[in-house]
Amino acid sequence: MNKIINQILGLGVGVVLACGCGTTPSETQTETAASHTFQIDASKTIAKVEPTMYGIFFEDINFAIDGGLYAELVKNRSFEFDKPLRGWTELKDKGLGVRFLPINTNNPRNTRFMRVQIEDQGSGAGLLNEGFRGMGLKEGLPHNFSIQVRGGDGKVSAIRIELLDSKGEVIANSRVDGINNEWQTLTTSLTPSKTDAKGTMKIWFEGEGTVDIDMVSLFPTDTWKGRKNGLRADLVQLLADMDPGFLRFPGGCIVEGFDLSQRYQWKNTVGDVDERVVTINRWNFEFDHRPAPDYYQSFGVGFYEYFLLAEDLEAEPVPILNCGMACQFNTGELVPLDQLDPYIQDALDLIEFANGSTDSKWGELRADMGHPEPFNLKMLGVGNEQWGPQYVERYVPIVNAVKAKYPEIQIIAATGSDGSIFPNGEEEIEYLWKVWKRLKPEIVDEHFYRNPDWFMENTDWYDNYERTGSKLFVGEWAAQSVGVASPDNKNNWETALSEAAFLTGLERNADLVTMTSYAPLFAHAEGWQWTPDLIWFDNLDSYGTANYYVQKMYATNPGTHVIPLEKDGKPVTGQNGLYATATRDENAGELIIKIVNTGEAAVETSFDVAGATIGAEVTAEVLSSKELEAVNTLDEGNKISPRTEKKTLDSEKLAYQLEPYSFTVLRVEAK
Ligand code: AHR
Repeated sequence: MNKIINQILGLGVGVVLACGCGTTPSETQTETAASHTFQIDASKTIAKVEPTMYGIFFEDINFAIDGGLYAELVKNRSFEFDKPLRGWTELKDKGLGVRFLPINTNNPRNTRFMRVQIEDQGSGAGLLNEGFRGMGLKEGLPHNFSIQVRGGDGKVSAIRIELLDSKGEVIANSRVDGINNEWQTLTTSLTPSKTDAKGTMKIWFEGEGTVDIDMVSLFPTDTWKGRKNGLRADLVQLLADMDPGFLRFPGGCIVEGFDLSQRYQWKNTVGDVDERVVTINRWNFEFDHRPAPDYYQSFGVGFYEYFLLAEDLEAEPVPILNCGMACQFNTGELVPLDQLDPYIQDALDLIEFANGSTDSKWGELRADMGHPEPFNLKMLGVGNEQWGPQYVERYVPIVNAVKAKYPEIQIIAATGSDGSIFPNGEEEIEYLWKVWKRLKPEIVDEHFYRNPDWFMENTDWYDNYERTGSKLFVGEWAAQSVGVASPDNKNNWETALSEAAFLTGLERNADLVTMTSYAPLFAHAEGWQWTPDLIWFDNLDSYGTANYYVQKMYATNPGTHVIPLEKDGKPVTGQNGLYATATRDENAGELIIKIVNTGEAAVETSFDVAGATIGAEVTAEVLSSKELEAVNTLDEGNKISPRTEKKTLDSEKLAYQLEPYSFTVLRVEAK
C-alpha cells in the first residue's frame, strides 16, 4: 500500500489529509482534489458477467458450523467425541454413588450413548453442558430441549433441566418425565428470563437407578425460517444480503481431512441427525497456537442442509468431493488406485442425491428428508487443493465415471494451493495447467493468500492469461495483513481496499473468471483458528467485516455485461492509485462503475460515456475509512459499512468525487 501511496505523492497530486473535524472528506477536499477523466463505451461488450460470478466459500473452520451457523447449543450432544464427556461436567458428590459410563453400540452411525448409574443421589446427580464457549441464551425466547432416554430399572423417571446465566443463576427450568425402559425422545421448552452469551445447561436425574441418555439437544426457536434442526438466522441473513451466485461447500481442507479416515464423507452427513457420523474436525489440532480440542463435526449441517441453504440463497450449489487424497499439508495419504471405487461411487451417488428421481435410492433419501424436488446440481469439484501426478491419476477415473453417466455436470479441477505457500507451488501449478489444457475441465480453481500490496499490484493478473477453454474459479483468496494464516492478521480496511482493487481485475476478465469467493467465511470470536475471515460472530451477535462489505457491493451490483472503462486507452489498474471497472445492467438499464481510490486524497472523476445516454441522477454506494488499520468489531459492526447517496448531475457528464481510501459503486441510468 505504501508503495502506491508514495507513487501518488510523487506525482504531486494535491493531498489533503482528513481533518477529523466532523465534516466528510468530500466537503473539505473539493478544491484540492486531483481530477481524472475516464472513457466508457457502453455499446461494446468485453464479457458477459455470469450469474455465478460472486459467491460464497463455506468451510467448517473457526467453529463456523458447530458453535456457529448450526443453532444447536449443546456441544457433544451424543457423547461421540473422542473423550465422551468433553464439553460436559459431572455434577455429583465426590464418591462412588453416581457413575457416568459411555456405552458403545453396534451401530457405526451412532456409536455411543451415556449410561448414568445412580446408587446414591447425595446432593444430586447431573451433567452440565458448557456449550460452545458458553451458550447464547435469549430472554423471552422459547428454547426447545430434547433428549433420547431409556430407563433401565424404571427408578429414574424424570429429568430436570436448568438453563443458567454466566454467573450460575438459574434463568429457566423445566422437567421431562415418563421415562420407561424403551428408548424415546422426550421434549420440553424453556424460556430464559435473561439474555446471556455465556449460559450453560444442567440436566439433573431424579431417582436412584440406571438411565441411558443420548442426543441431548437445545435449540433456540428463532432459527432461519423457523426450521427444526435449524441455522442461526442472523448468520444466514448476512449471507443472503450478499446475494451470492453460488455456495461452495464443505471446504476447504476439511474435504481432504488430516488423513483419509478423517476426510469429509457426504454419506455420513445425511439422514436422521442422530445417525450422522460424528467426526473430528481437522482444524481441531491444525495450529498449535490455536488448539481446539473440542472441535468436532456433528454434521447437524450436512450435505442436505448445504443444498437447502444454497436453494434458500438462490445460489448454485457447488459441492467439492474428496478424490482419494488427504490434505497434502498434512499426511497427504493416498487411496491406492485399485481402491478408488468408493470415491467414484460417492461422486455418482451425490449427483443422484441432488438431482435423481425419487424412485432412485439417493433421490428417495432426499425426498424422505423433505425435498422431493431435485436440487438442480450443475457443478462438482473433484479434490480441493490437490497437486501432483497423484492428483491427476485419481481425478481422471472419477471424472470419466461422472461424465459417462452425467455428461452435463461441469467439473471443477484444482491447481493446488496458493503457489507462494506450498512446496514448489509455482512449478506444481504449471504442471497441472499443462494437464488441464489437455483434459479441459470446465472450471479450474485458483487460490491466493497474499499481502495487500500483491492484490493491488496484480489487478491485471488475468488480463493476459491464456484462454485455454476452461473457465476460472478464483475460489479462495484474502489479503493477509501479516502473513498467511498468521494469528495476527486483521480484517482491516487496508486489506479490504486491496481486495476491492483486485476484484476490478477479476470483473474485467469475466470472460475467463466466472466464479470468485473470499475465504474463509466465518469465525467465532473466541473459537477461531484462522484469520482473516469474512464474517465474525459470538454466541449472540455477528458482523460483516470491511472485506464482507466489499464482497457484498460487488455481488449486489454485478451488471450483466462488462464494458470498456479506460484512461488514455488503458484499463485502470492502479494509475494514480485508482482501479476501476464498468458493467452495464441490461435488466435495470443502468451503467455500473466500480472504482477504488487507494490514495489518501480525494479524487475528482468524470466519465465520458459513449454508446448510451445517461440519466440525470447517479446513485453512489460508498465504503471508506480514513484509517487503513480500522476494523469492524462486535461492538462496532458497522464502523466500516457502505452508505448510499443520490446526486443530481450538474451537466450531462457523469462526475463524482471519490473519497480518500474508498471503494465506490456508481449506478446511473443508461439508455
Ligand atoms: O481457507 C482456509 C484454508 O486455506 C482452506 O481450508 C484451504 O483450502 C486453504 O489452504
